[in-house]
Amino acid sequence: LCGFVAPAEAQTYPTRSITMIVPFAAGGPTDVISRIVTGHMAQTLGQSIIIENVVGAGGTTATTRAARAANDGYTLITGHMGTHAASVPLYPKLAYHPEKDFEPVALLAGTPILILARKDFPPKDLKEFVAYVKANAEKVNAAHAGVGSVSHVSCELLHSILDVKPVGVPFNGTGPAMNALVAGQVDYMCDQIVNAVPQINAGTIKAYAIATAERNPSLPNVPTTAEAGLPAFQAQAWNAMFAPKGTSPAIIASLNAAAIKALDDETVKKRLLELGSVIPGPKDRTPEALATLVKNEIAKWTPVLKPAT
Ligand code: MLT
Repeated sequence: LCGFVAPAEAQTYPTRSITMIVPFAAGGPTDVISRIVTGHMAQTLGQSIIIENVVGAGGTTATTRAARAANDGYTLITGHMGTHAASVPLYPKLAYHPEKDFEPVALLAGTPILILARKDFPPKDLKEFVAYVKANAEKVNAAHAGVGSVSHVSCELLHSILDVKPVGVPFNGTGPAMNALVAGQVDYMCDQIVNAVPQINAGTIKAYAIATAERNPSLPNVPTTAEAGLPAFQAQAWNAMFAPKGTSPAIIASLNAAAIKALDDETVKKRLLELGSVIPGPKDRTPEALATLVKNEIAKWTPVLKPAT
């Protein structure tokens, strides 16, 4: 009679609502992905998951708070390529370490990057954009979601390829940055696809290219950077769920299972795909795979990014 006995906490968890910290403003890619996935996870877990948008410092303010939260499974965070990788080289005094202070739970979505501009920005295509930005580098500006955010890091990569240093205009997330782009208050932005699809389809902004090897089915008319003449610019971000270090393996397993169930749900899948996200395949869905991703991404960005001044 030696059956597996699950720890009591896993049998009862969760007994109350869970807080999911989103490190950027409502309406941006991280917020949208979190709401889609946690909406379904809440049904599986039988408790509500409350999204708390905590903004500032390119997502690092919220991520510091999540790192210091009780490791009881009731405070989680949706982190991303910025908060859990690029922040390490950019912020020498970062108050958390993505690997040491978090338990990876599950990768939620891959998010290709697009070069977007206000509707009346003069360049018509990517080749003209490159020439225009090079010729007007002191005049043009690029919106982003704070130092270390995906939009900031992606455009830093673009700017290093073009050898220009335009002014950056920081927002608390690319939700508000997108509003400024639509209103014509900023010139361009390197943003995750989830934020861009509704606006591109509504014709309120321009999309020059998607920085992935293939076109995205949600935007079949947007060329890849290679097709449009800038093959060197390749960028895809990701959003993933983390818990504070020391959260019990049984709780991580419950959360991971609920996240996977959400990603397999037809309605969740349809919504994520409509917004251009890449849904992680089976081998990318484990906490171990997410730990490896974080490790590899820190190693990838550390030699590329210099500390912010
Ligand atoms: C957001 O949700 O606003 C983003 O993920 C911002 C970013 O990192 O560019």
